[in-house]
Amino acid sequence: MASEARDPLLLEEPMLILENGEVYRNPTEIKMSQIVLPCHANHCGELSVGQLLKWMDSTACLAAERHTGCSCITASVDDIHFETTIGVGQVVNIKAKVNRAFTSSMEVGILVSCEDLFSDRQWKVCHAFATFVARRTEAGKNSDPTGFLQIHLKQVIPRTQAEQMEYSLAAERRRMRLIHAEIINDLLNSCSSQTESECLDYQDAVSAERTRVESVELVLPPHANHQVSTFGGQIMAWMENVATIAASRLCNAHPTLRTIDMFHFRGPSHIGDRLVLKAIVNNAFKKSMEVGVCAEAYQGGEPLRHINTAFMTFEVLDNDRKPRSLPRIRPEPVDGKRRYQEAIARKKIRLDRKYIISCKQSEVPLSVPWDPSNQVYLSYNNVSALKILAARTNWALTSEKNKVRLYTLEENQMLCFKVETHVAMAAEHVFLLLSDLKRRKEWDHHYQECEVIAEAHEDDTIYRVVTPSVTKGGNVQDFILLASKRHPCDSGDPYLIALRSVTLPTYPPTEDYNRGEVLCAGFSIWEEESSFTKISYYNQATPGVLPYISTDIAGLSSSFYRTFASCSTFLEENKASLASLPTSALGENSGTALAIELCCLVNLKTISCSWILCLFFSTNWACF
Ligand code: COA
Repeated sequence: MASEARDPLLLEEPMLILENGEVYRNPTEIKMSQIVLPCHANHCGELSVGQLLKWMDSTACLAAERHTGCSCITASVDDIHFETTIGVGQVVNIKAKVNRAFTSSMEVGILVSCEDLFSDRQWKVCHAFATFVARRTEAGKNSDPTGFLQIHLKQVIPRTQAEQMEYSLAAERRRMRLIHAEIINDLLNSCSSQTESECLDYQDAVSAERTRVESVELVLPPHANHQVSTFGGQIMAWMENVATIAASRLCNAHPTLRTIDMFHFRGPSHIGDRLVLKAIVNNAFKKSMEVGVCAEAYQGGEPLRHINTAFMTFEVLDNDRKPRSLPRIRPEPVDGKRRYQEAIARKKIRLDRKYIISCKQSEVPLSVPWDPSNQVYLSYNNVSALKILAARTNWALTSEKNKVRLYTLEENQMLCFKVETHVAMAAEHVFLLLSDLKRRKEWDHHYQECEVIAEAHEDDTIYRVVTPSVTKGGNVQDFILLASKRHPCDSGDPYLIALRSVTLPTYPPTEDYNRGEVLCAGFSIWEEESSFTKISYYNQATPGVLPYISTDIAGLSSSFYRTFASCSTFLEENKASLASLPTSALGENSGTALAIELCCLVNLKTISCSWILCLFFSTNWACF
């Protein structure tokens, strides 16, 4: 997704004027501006990240509370990449708004920018997503055993294009967030012990023990929020403080915090708690180091409660602000070595996430290698790319035949197609039939062969698809496609089937086939009435195919119509075989109840939904 698309608060959207003539402003949006004073800064005159985290948490909490009308607590904050530092005298502008509410939790988007008052310049510092959980504590009715009221939050109603996109993507991010711990554990379990001997070899290495820090904080009223719980931002700030000390001990210099892995608040802390904060450098790579930091709480003689664990990546910048080389670390036996190896595994995950998720959609290479550690991010990337494409509002109707419509969208060297049609059957049945790519050849003659080569997950399947040659007498083409399917979780959301290319070491390109690649394609399937469904097919073409496509757009071909008329016939002919199945059986086939709950798609009622179709070379446009 484009970074502008990721940073909805930066998007220059057309103003939405309300019926009363006022300019629309998101009702949950909260803004905070702070001048950085010496008391907020470290000894280098830069705003301390801890202080920034406190401001971010407060702003986000107020946005969450504006939506819910009751107290909210921080459940987690996704990875944060700090792009720049902020100096004393500069202004920090923080904007937060609720992107989507679920049952008791909601995602809050936070955008931090820095402003130089003297040069009138503004630039982005970081963008974060935090999850807050609403807590209603009225005693009595409907409360659960802990005394909290059962909560079902009111839904967020997205009004602008950027809001609709974030609403949609929030569901996908939530899915990733809730399995984050699982991903890390899986990778750590499969992590080899290749570093076992390596880490002991360095004579000049610094002992990891030398970097160990332990510090205690007493939680006082100024550290607490209005519910006497410790502010999440305060805990993050204390964690950052000990992590910075540990990092400084390795490099004997001032370290700069670059990335924080997900903060997950496992349990609450209150006024009177003693918070024990521990940090140690787990591993030093060539130009960055990972510090592990943990917060535990106790009161009186009680046992320690685990509050949070986070991993922070630091660099040390030279005079040209370039990261400089760091000393090696020598871990202690057993636990130290385990942390050393785990840091390597996390570095890989971090790179995958940054590479696949944070980078602009158009900059993610087509050939992203698929492996178990990055499958969640690739699946996210796949689905979010399609959602972003579907959320575009500037589609132009190019051609229409018997109510099958072809739209195009041209933007920044990108050409996309959308084909829209309707069928008189239930959306779920359409989804079931179209999500099985093996059946595509029954209606799409471009699909000569299609085989499943990996069932990565019940919602993510990798196929190899063979399509006819683009040129007369040329090689046939093959594609390795990740198909990610998603059920709606709210009424009004579409079903979604997203397709993109991946690479698998076990399926390298061969001489007999031209390996084709797909950036973003797929279907969104909308139930308009109980047995009347709108199907939209989307495809994003790469610049290399633009000349071929433009001839089709010019109206020289109506192959899109033939293919989608054939698709409608296929669906109609097969609906009888599904009609006898109960709806739940169909659902089970394509995902668990959890998956259904988690997979929410944008409510894009304002967007003209359609099939998009990329007329790839006019012969293989429908290959994906
Ligand atoms: N990231 C995002 N959301 C999470 C999450 C995580 N790591 N873990 C749980 N949640 C969400 C769940 O999805 C659920 O949302 P939903 O109701 O919209 O479906 C909600 O939190 C409650 O989940 P539940 O399983 O009922 O509760 P839990 O026992 O997992 O508790 C917290 C979740 C956040 C309430 C609990 O861990 C807690 O109290 N943490 C401390 C929070 C705090 O005090 N923060 C301030 C700093 S101390």
